[in-house]
Order: sequence, then C-alpha cells, then structure tokens
Amino acid sequence: MREFKNKVAVITGAADGIGKALALKGAKEGMKLVLADIDTGKLDRLIEELTASGTEAVGLRVDVSRAEEVVALADLAYTTFGGVHLLINNAGVALAKNAWETTHKDWEWVMGVNLYGVTNGLSAFIPQMLASGEECHVVNTASIAGLLSEPSMAAYNVSKFGVVTLSEGLHHDLTLRQAKIGVSVLCPAWVKTRIAEADRHRPADERIDLAQLDKVTAATGMAMFKAVKNGVEPEEIAEATFGAIRDGRFYIITHPQTMAGIRIRMDDILQKRQPTLLPI
Ligand SMILES: NC(=O)c1ccc[n+]([C@@H]2O[C@H](COP(=O)([O-])OP(=O)(O)OC[C@H]3O[C@@H](n4cnc5c(N)ncnc54)[C@H](O)[C@@H]3O)[C@@H](O)[C@H]2O)c1
Repeated sequence: MREFKNKVAVITGAADGIGKALALKGAKEGMKLVLADIDTGKLDRLIEELTASGTEAVGLRVDVSRAEEVVALADLAYTTFGGVHLLINNAGVALAKNAWETTHKDWEWVMGVNLYGVTNGLSAFIPQMLASGEECHVVNTASIAGLLSEPSMAAYNVSKFGVVTLSEGLHHDLTLRQAKIGVSVLCPAWVKTRIAEADRHRPADERIDLAQLDKVTAATGMAMFKAVKNGVEPEEIAEATFGAIRDGRFYIITHPQTMAGIRIRMDDILQKRQPTLLPI
C-alpha cells in the first residue's frame, strides 16, 4: 500500500503507547480512523483530539479477546466509512512470570489479548477485505519476544511466537490466493510505554505481586521494567511501521541491535546447541 490519504485504518489498543502513535501517524498521513481500546477515557480523549484537528475518527470500547466485540468493531468501520484498507492488530499485554508460576487465568488473559485478539481481527476483517478486491494491508504487533525466547516471560513469549507464525502463515495463504492484501509483523524490542503495567486492567487479585515471585523472576521483571522506561519513543515505531507498509515489507524489526540475537538463535537451532541466554 503506497498511498494512505483518505484510506481507512482500524487500530486496536489505540488509546495509549504504540497504538496511539500509530493512530497519530495515520492521521498525519490523511487516513480515516477507527480506533479500539478497553480504556474508554483515553480513547475518547484521543478521538476528540483527532477530530478537533480535522481527522475523521470514530472509537469503540472493544476487548479484543472477545470475538463478538471485534465483529462489532468491523461493523462500525464498514457502516461509518464503507471500507477498511489497513488493519493494525496492536492491542497487547505483558506478564513477567516463568512457566510454572503462570496460572491458568494468566494464560487465558495473555493468550486472549495477544493471540486471540489477533485471530479475532483476522476473522472479522479479512473476508470483507478479500470481497472488496481493494488493496489492503494487515499489521500484527508481535514483539522481539516472538523471535527470541526471553526468560521469565513464558505466556508472553508463547503468544508473540504465535503472532509471528500466524502472520507468516497468513502471508502464504493470501499469496497463494493472489489476494491484494499485504501482511507485516511488527517485532520491536523495548519501547517507552505502559506495557510493564499492563495488569492495570486486571482485577486487583490477579495483578502481579513481586513479593510472591521467586527472586530470579522478580529481578528479570525489574530489569524489563527499566528497559521499557529507557526504550525508544513509540513515534519511532509508528514511523518504521508506516515505512514498512509503504515498502510492502513483512518483518518490521525496529531495533537493529536485535538482529545479532536472532542470528544466534537460528545458529543454536541449526547447530543443535543449547539455547543461548541473551542479555535483556
Ligand atoms: N512497549 C514495548 O516495549 C513493546 C515491545 C514489543 C512489543 N510490544 C507490543 O506493542 C503492543 C502495544 O503495547 P504498548 O507497548 O503500546 O503498551 P501500552 O500498555 O502502552 O498500550 C496497550 C494498549 O492496549 C490496550 N489494551 C489492553 N488490553 C486490551 C484489550 N483486551 N482489548 C483492547 N485493548 C486493550 C490498553 O488499554 C492500551 O491502551 C502490544 O501488543 C505489545 O505486546 C510492546
């Protein structure tokens, strides 16, 4: 997709962080926006801000883990603007826990938002994109944790590896059908957002209590908290994402320093070595 002006973009998790930066970038490119989030206060303020500056934008409270709410988002987009050209499945949550500390509720929460949030987006939008015959693009937000297995991030890693393979398979399925739908998978490392406080949306008794975690997990969690705080600005990720859509690039690797780790992991597999523990 080389032209964005007057095209329609749907972005999930758009009220904050990377999603908000993507929405502002879409507005700057002259797109019409359909924005979704569970944080209605922030979403409403963003819609007001965008509308005041002349962007056509609508918002809906959507929990992406609930298929019927994502279908309602698609209905809103098609009834408001008559089409969708860019879908960014961005909403996501993070959890610092190793596999044996991760509860069933934790798995349901992380997989529900990060993986099923994306599958719900594909089911709700791709059939209508195919039927329209128009040039479209889908971006799925994974993470570098979809290409490298971080310690103390069991559910997050699984969900993000899932998003990467889902996106690769989607690319093949659309290519085999000569569909005019491009696909990209966004794999950033640390970005300065509120992702480390993602459990702010969970009931109090399901939030992380560092004192309950073993020392290694608590230390890794703190290191990640700091890494996010010192991460790149979300606007940088939005620029890279729109650049990749324009160029039709599949893998969006926003932090060049992560390439060395990806190579090490691939070599570990090819040489049948033990997995290398990479620095955070
Ligand atoms: N920040 C990073 O370092 C980083 C790195 C790699 C990947 N990512 C990914 O980027 C994406 C955006 O995260 P962010 O860093 O901007 O975090 P963020 O917490 O700042 O923003 C996430 C947004 O998603 C919304 N959200 C949470 N659960 C939702 C749900 N069930 N339905 C709809 N919306 C929901 C939140 O309200 C929030 O507005 C996520 O998929 C995350 O995994 C972030």
